[in-house]
Amino acid sequence: MVDAETEVPRKTDLPTRKIGGSVVRIKNLALVIGTRPQILKSVPIIHAASRSKRIRLSVIHTGQHYDYEMSRVFFSEFNLPKPSFNLRVGPGTHVKQIADIMCRLERHLHEMRPDWVLVPGDTNSALAAGLAASKLGFAVAHIEAGARSYDMSMPEEVNRRLLDHLSGLLFAPTATCAKNLVLEGIPRSRTIRSGDTMFDLFQKYRHKMLSSDIVERQGLANSRYVFVTVHRQSNIETRKALADIARAILDVKEVMFVMPVHPHTRARMEEFGIYRKLSSANNIKLTGPLGYFETIRLITSARLVMTDSGGLQKEAFWAGTPCVTLRDTTEWTETIECGANTLTGVDGNRMVAAIRRSLSCQPRIGWKSSLFGNGQAARKIIATLEKR
Ligand code: UD1
Repeated sequence: MVDAETEVPRKTDLPTRKIGGSVVRIKNLALVIGTRPQILKSVPIIHAASRSKRIRLSVIHTGQHYDYEMSRVFFSEFNLPKPSFNLRVGPGTHVKQIADIMCRLERHLHEMRPDWVLVPGDTNSALAAGLAASKLGFAVAHIEAGARSYDMSMPEEVNRRLLDHLSGLLFAPTATCAKNLVLEGIPRSRTIRSGDTMFDLFQKYRHKMLSSDIVERQGLANSRYVFVTVHRQSNIETRKALADIARAILDVKEVMFVMPVHPHTRARMEEFGIYRKLSSANNIKLTGPLGYFETIRLITSARLVMTDSGGLQKEAFWAGTPCVTLRDTTEWTETIECGANTLTGVDGNRMVAAIRRSLSCQPRIGWKSSLFGNGQAARKIIATLEKR
């Protein structure tokens, strides 16, 4: 778990700085993160803010993700400073998680009096932070605004819609996301098309994946393999969905699968007797959650990515690896339009057919990573916040 400091923070004592002969007020920003994807989306923001003379950024970790592999590993991979505070909210129902984060955040926001509360992504931590800030009268800036699956049964869709509507500034990663916001009546003046901070990260650090020997360690150097992840609530809450995914994997015997298992997924797989079945199969290797460089190395060398994650669909696209998405909808429709991604839900026949079709074709041409910006999204976000 990320170390916590329990004392109440001091009030801002550095409100101005002399820059080029004039006195400039330093902007006080609070960045609230809590989960694996939010930490990754924030790495370029933290780095860009540390280079700004006009901004002081404090990071608050909600503690929604608390295992080493789900949180601290990324702080060490990217050499991030420890968060100023950890709210240690831990596991719980969605309602409890959101309520606990709001209550614990309140005192910190009161003390910090931030000019902006920055919230990346669509998790419970994101919604809780946005709601708390807005109720206390602090301005909210949403990073990765406008992503829509139009599936309100996804907790993340509810979170991001609410968050977009209460935010004063919306940083949209793609043109589609910006358009979605217009269609919902959000004034254009609030939306900035920034590009995707996850693409910044991918571009900047892609070469570092070569420092990972995960492909060799997994014995996959000379194998065709599929990289699989599953953690969406709809795919793990019932035995049927998880069992259908497992059966599809076991059916496609002609290729290896490698699956880093989310702690939540592992608990359900064990409960349903699926973990033992998969771990004794010859065509799948199960691991715990992986670091960023290991993940990107595995994606890049894979023949196919099979996932229900939002972020991995994009990372597969940027790496030039085809993707089969185990959902009926996606926020990242650009990847579908380019032919890089196929939606199969968890229907057995569709999954198996899409896996076999993807393995037999060579699609790595014409995928436009530039749809997600130019790798400078964080710089643009920080520059915007300096001025506002
Ligand atoms: C959350 C996000 C999802 C994001 C995902 C990335 C919400 C609604 N969902 O889902 O958008 O894509 O994170 O992983 O916010 N657990 C551990 N160790 C950890 C973290 C979680 O064991 O470090 C267990 C907890 O016991 C918890 C369960 O996993 O009960 C679910 O965790 P939670 O953070 O609620 O949701 P995720 O499924 O991780």
